[in-house]
Amino acid sequence: MPTIYVLNGPNLNLLGKRQPEIYGSETLEDVGLLCRDVAPGYQIRLLQSNHEGQIVDWIHEAREDACGIVINPAALTHTSVAILDALNAFDGPVIEVHISQVHKREPFRHHSYVSMRADGVIAGLGIEGYAAATRRIVSLTAE
Ligand code: DQA
Repeated sequence: MPTIYVLNGPNLNLLGKRQPEIYGSETLEDVGLLCRDVAPGYQIRLLQSNHEGQIVDWIHEAREDACGIVINPAALTHTSVAILDALNAFDGPVIEVHISQVHKREPFRHHSYVSMRADGVIAGLGIEGYAAATRRIVSLTAE
């Protein structure tokens, strides 16, 4: 079964609890349910880490293991050249997701290193953005 990695950066383990007025009350578990729902016939590997190096390691694993990557790098979006470099070493489609509408927020959230590699960028759709991103990976990789 083809595998889609759904990678999540720092603080997203607290999704549903942290700043619900910005990020909503649904959890990362709900994200997994949504993604699995729109990608029958695919395995969804839902992962979260607060550590940049761990996310880099998972992207390296995805080189061998995944047909596509959905990634919400969270705060690392705005700082991490290491994640950009790792994604540049991955050959399949990459869709970047932000739960909040980052362009309506502080200026430091307007720049994304990951967008220099992403094949699509979704912001402000809440966790539905993950479903849209997963659907896009399916349509780009379905035979
Ligand atoms: C986020 C937006 C980032 O700016 C922020 O640091 C996050 C979450 C989002 O999903 O809206 O942690 O990526």
